[in-house]
Amino acid sequence: MPEQQRTYIMLKPDAVRDRHIGEIVSRFERAGLCIERMELTNVTLDQAKANYAEHEGKPFYEGLLAYITSGPVVKMVISGPDAVAKCRKLMGATNPLEAAPGTIRGDFGLMMDENVVHGSDSPESAVREIGIFFGEE
Ligand code: RTP
Ligand code: MG
Repeated sequence: MPEQQRTYIMLKPDAVRDRHIGEIVSRFERAGLCIERMELTNVTLDQAKANYAEHEGKPFYEGLLAYITSGPVVKMVISGPDAVAKCRKLMGATNPLEAAPGTIRGDFGLMMDENVVHGSDSPESAVREIGIFFGEE
C-alpha cells in the first residue's frame, strides 16, 4: 500500500501574475489529491531563506530569494497516497524547457527563473516546509 503523505506546494509569483491559479490547483485535485490548506499570501525573506537554505551560496540563490518574495504566491498543503512524488510528477522537470508537455511546468512555464510551482522533494522536506509556511500544528 502506498504511504499517505502530506506535501508543501507553492504556486510561484509568475503563476499568480499570469492568472493560472485555478487551472493549476485543479490539476492536483483532478489527480485525486486533497487540498488540505490553501492561502494567497506573500513570502517573507526569512521564509524564503529557510525554504531554500540548501541553495545558499549558489549563483542563482540571491535571484531565487528576490523572485519568490516579488509578489503573492499560493501556499498549500496537499495530501494523498505518495503525495510528495505524485506532486513532483505532476509538476514536471525543474527547467520548463525540459518539462514534458502535460506537466504543470511544461504547460505553464518558459524558463528556469520562473518555473511556476514549488513542491517538497521528500517527506522530510515536506514536514520542514509546512512548518516554515504554516507553523507547527
Ligand atoms: P523547487 O524547489 O522550486 O520545487 O524546484 P526543484 O526542487 O525542482 O529545484 P531545486 O533544485 O530545488 O531548485 C530550486 C529553484 O531554484 C531555481 N534554480 N535555478 N539557474 C539554475 O541553475 C537554477 N537551478 C535551480 C529554480 O527556480 C528552482 O525551482
Ligand atoms: Mg527543490
